[in-house]
Amino acid sequence: MLQAVIVGHGGPEKLELREGADPEPGPGEARIRVKASGINFADILAREGLYPDAPRPPVVVGYEVSGTVDAVGSSVDSALVGTEVIALTRFGGYADVISVPAGQIFAKPPGLSHEEGASLAVAYLTAWQLLVVMGSLKPEETVLIHNAGGGVGLAAIDIARHIGATIYGTASTAKHPFLLERGVHEVIDYRATDWTKEVDRLTGGKGVALITDPLGGRHWKKSYRALRSTGRLGMFGVSTATSSKLAGPLRLGQAAAGMPFFHPVPLMNANKAVFGVNLGHLWGEADMTAGWMKTLIDGVEEGWVRPHVDRSFPLAEVAAAHTYIEARKNIGKVVLTS
Ligand SMILES: NC(=O)c1ccc[n+]([C@@H]2O[C@H](COP(=O)([O-])OP(=O)(O)OC[C@H]3O[C@@H](n4cnc5c(N)ncnc54)[C@H](OP(=O)(O)O)[C@@H]3O)[C@@H](O)[C@H]2O)c1
Repeated sequence: MLQAVIVGHGGPEKLELREGADPEPGPGEARIRVKASGINFADILAREGLYPDAPRPPVVVGYEVSGTVDAVGSSVDSALVGTEVIALTRFGGYADVISVPAGQIFAKPPGLSHEEGASLAVAYLTAWQLLVVMGSLKPEETVLIHNAGGGVGLAAIDIARHIGATIYGTASTAKHPFLLERGVHEVIDYRATDWTKEVDRLTGGKGVALITDPLGGRHWKKSYRALRSTGRLGMFGVSTATSSKLAGPLRLGQAAAGMPFFHPVPLMNANKAVFGVNLGHLWGEADMTAGWMKTLIDGVEEGWVRPHVDRSFPLAEVAAAHTYIEARKNIGKVVLTS
């Protein structure tokens, strides 16, 4: 087995390849020969020591893979051996072999490559929870998707399009033509302009019904203000913590200091709602997320779920893959191939 290990907190140079014995599938597990591993922004935060959920180094991160089952443990149907699957992994995905509980494995839609398969689960489940499960987005409403060019962002666009809502997105300028082609109605560069003024202009001062915000810190205050009456703010990340010049955990402290406090009375009087999403804390709700996955896999067949792979890097070039994402170059997903 080959794994990419985070050996300490810091830059991409903290990622090292290590060889080890293949894992044996335990009871209730299946072993997957990995063809592609999805990279998520949380992996970068974990490498930088900014992701409290990640185990301390040395650690192999990675929340999702696509590949072929080659062995199963006791109480798992042996018919699974030889099938092509996608799987959610609670860390360990940056590897060419991994054993995973069978409940976290799903048949890979035949129309998807392994790279696309490894790009589906985390991004689309997160976006589904944000837009549908908790955000209740309706066709006549407008949604603002921050960081629209990222993995979760593109997934959110697909889902909002499927619902039939009006879509605004924020992203770096270079990503705008792709996003317009993908189905966003209006794109705003949140780094070069004050996006709140643009939203005011576009909505005649009313605001939008739903905002998905992975930026965190003081951005959540701005997003809350940009909601219309009955609007909902879905908070699900602190990407901005990585831009700070402060050292290590101080960066999280800086992001936390800018965060809003939501008191019930102003919420009530404003007719607004706020909610949080952390897919990584739903492992105890496997039946619920499996139901969402079924809808999303059906969506692949129906044509509205379109995982987009921006670039693949061999597992051995994992540091270059992280550098690429941190330079904000990716549109959609970046994957590692084995
Ligand atoms: N809570 C959950 O369950 C959950 C699940 C998945 C993801 N997330 C969060 O959602 C966000 C997006 O995740 P993703 O995996 O889809 O990543 P991603 O968006 O594919 O990755 C990076 C993109 O984020 C944007 N970005 C914003 N601030 C940045 C910064 N300080 N440094 C570098 N890039 C920055 C850049 O796009 P622009 O050029 O447009 O700025 C960049 O291209 C992350 O905050 C992640 O932690 C949360």
